[in-house]
Amino acid sequence: MSDQPFSFTIPFPGFKPSRADNHIERHLSDLRGQFLDQHAYKTMLSEEDTLLYEVYEIKRPEIEGELLSGISIVHPGKVGNEFFMTKGHFHTILETAEMYYCLNGEGFMVMETPEGETFIEALSPGKVLYVPPRWAHRSVCTSRQEDLVTFFIYPGNSGHNYGTIEEKGFRKLVVENEKGIEIIDNPKFKE
Ligand code: F6R
Ligand code: ZN
Repeated sequence: MSDQPFSFTIPFPGFKPSRADNHIERHLSDLRGQFLDQHAYKTMLSEEDTLLYEVYEIKRPEIEGELLSGISIVHPGKVGNEFFMTKGHFHTILETAEMYYCLNGEGFMVMETPEGETFIEALSPGKVLYVPPRWAHRSVCTSRQEDLVTFFIYPGNSGHNYGTIEEKGFRKLVVENEKGIEIIDNPKFKE
């Protein structure tokens, strides 16, 4: 891999970076067990394994001192009354942070620490969010028709721990009910 400086562009609209070393697509089946309404989940999955979100990664060596970046695109939609969202994760090296810059759409970043502290930040174009070390993070798209698009940057040695969230879930969920968009406690959260 070259150590020359490099640049790329993120076109508006479209948001697909002019340079991308990897394109990840995550579907409904990748979030097994995460949505609250499992009946709605199974019914939807039996019809189609819907694409929930995509990530374009700018690859660099996964070592301390490097920065990894990319674009995350969460599509609009719901499973039951819960909005489409990313799997979410802690960083394997818990003491690593991440920055997000929202480029398009509306949504939330749902965050929590291993000790049980929670924080939810609304995302809309122009919002910059600093996710400190130790905070698990998940993006949720609440737009009706638009993608939630964010640009992210994090340390090369962070790594991803998906297992903890797959097993326990997040403490908070973003749903839509008669009152509108609401943040609720996850009744299925496992301590
Ligand atoms: C990287 C990071 C984001 C997410 C992306 C997809 O540390 O937080 O790039 O990877 O938003 O979400 P996950 O990785 O949870 O599927
Ligand atoms: Zn992360």
